[in-house]
Amino acid sequence: MSAVRIDGRQVAKGLNRATRERALSLTRPPGLAVVLVGEDPASEVYVRRKGIVAGRLGFQHQQLTLPAATTQDELHAVIDTLNADPSVDGILVQLPLPSHLDSDAVLESIHPDKDVDGLTPASAGLLAIGRPLLVPCTPAGCMHLIEATGVDLSGAHAVVLGRSNIVGRPIARLLEQANATVTVCHSRTKHPERITREADVLIAAVGRPKMVGADWVRPGAVVIDVGINRLADGSLCGDVDTDAVAQVASAITPVPGGVGPMTIAMLMRNTLVASERRQSNRP
Ligand code: GUN
Repeated sequence: MSAVRIDGRQVAKGLNRATRERALSLTRPPGLAVVLVGEDPASEVYVRRKGIVAGRLGFQHQQLTLPAATTQDELHAVIDTLNADPSVDGILVQLPLPSHLDSDAVLESIHPDKDVDGLTPASAGLLAIGRPLLVPCTPAGCMHLIEATGVDLSGAHAVVLGRSNIVGRPIARLLEQANATVTVCHSRTKHPERITREADVLIAAVGRPKMVGADWVRPGAVVIDVGINRLADGSLCGDVDTDAVAQVASAITPVPGGVGPMTIAMLMRNTLVASERRQSNRP
């Protein structure tokens, strides 16, 4: 079997087009503020891309770049200002933060109505009880890509590799709410390959280059690769050995060009939704 490569750029383009059109009917454009602390090169690239897409969609966008030595109090003061700014509908603090900062406390300080990253305890709690509002962007993007394959998730066995708050945990909740039977594997799981071989849908979100080989995958499975790893030669690869697994799977996301563009598209969608809610004073 040779798997269909799921084109995340194409799916994201369609979503972005719909987001831009919906934004046109608002009184004022959605406002997004992205906060970057320090000079992590990968974060600088991600943040720049978010700004470019926000601009293309006609959003009001601001990037706040703070020095690596920013204190916890200084960062909280910036977020307080953005929480109170009526032109800002969405706030995203790019992670990871420098190690002297308490990321949990920072995320918790974002007003839940402006939590377009879906990472505050309020957003995570709503998702956990089956009332998702602002859903973390990468998991939401993965769900769109799975839907694009046409696979029926109801009763399917979905296996998630990784249990991070950004990807693994929330995507497990979304898959379960789509009526899949979900297994989460993590660093302490014994023989994860025995479990992944049972998966109809496999999500890899562990940050280990090419960990998932062809012998980890059931023939015909849908494989979503969330990993973005830089190899010694400077090239990018995912958590899945794409070429090998493509011989076994029915559909697979490439890296780059799979999940990455969807994460940004879902951030724009969340910002639109937050703006619509604020502009109509919906609870
Ligand atoms: N760094 C890597 N992924 C993400 C994400 O989804 N949100 C934020 N804020 N930072 C990230």
